[in-house]
Amino acid sequence: MTKLLFVCLGNICRSPSAEAIMNKFALEKGLLDKVFCDSAGTSGYHNGYPADERSVAALEQRGYKCFSKSRAVDPLNDFDEFDYILAMDSSNLDNLLKLAETYKKDRKNIFLMSEFRIKRPELEVPDPYSGGEQGFFKVIDILEDSCQGLLNKISK
Ligand code: 4NP
Repeated sequence: MTKLLFVCLGNICRSPSAEAIMNKFALEKGLLDKVFCDSAGTSGYHNGYPADERSVAALEQRGYKCFSKSRAVDPLNDFDEFDYILAMDSSNLDNLLKLAETYKKDRKNIFLMSEFRIKRPELEVPDPYSGGEQGFFKVIDILEDSCQGLLNKISK
């Protein structure tokens, strides 16, 4: 079993979208027993809340279901438990690296999501929270590409 933790700031837009997309890809490839997905935020601002309704609506329009409830990264457990900890942008990556350092955890499983991109040029998944609806669809477009690349890598 390969365990994936998708991480953004609030865990209500980008990382729940990544989780929903990867779960569907794994289901379609018959890999649900090989890939476990979870998501978390570097902040705990939205602890216990479902994903942002704009993310849920965009995901539904594109054929994905999102059941995520927001939680903060748990530095005592997550760095040991997950094989891939995937930061949506460079600020999330910096926060994760600092947390790993503070808690004396190995940083080898921490990656920027775009390391797995195939066709898309973007090096970060941009925060859609304060923008318009289009931003939520762009998040999905970028994540579909890097989730495909990541799944190719782990199913090799
Ligand atoms: P996310 O988006 O990190 O993709 O979940 C955000 C959600 C909430 C806030 C910022 C980004 N916020 O500032 O409340």
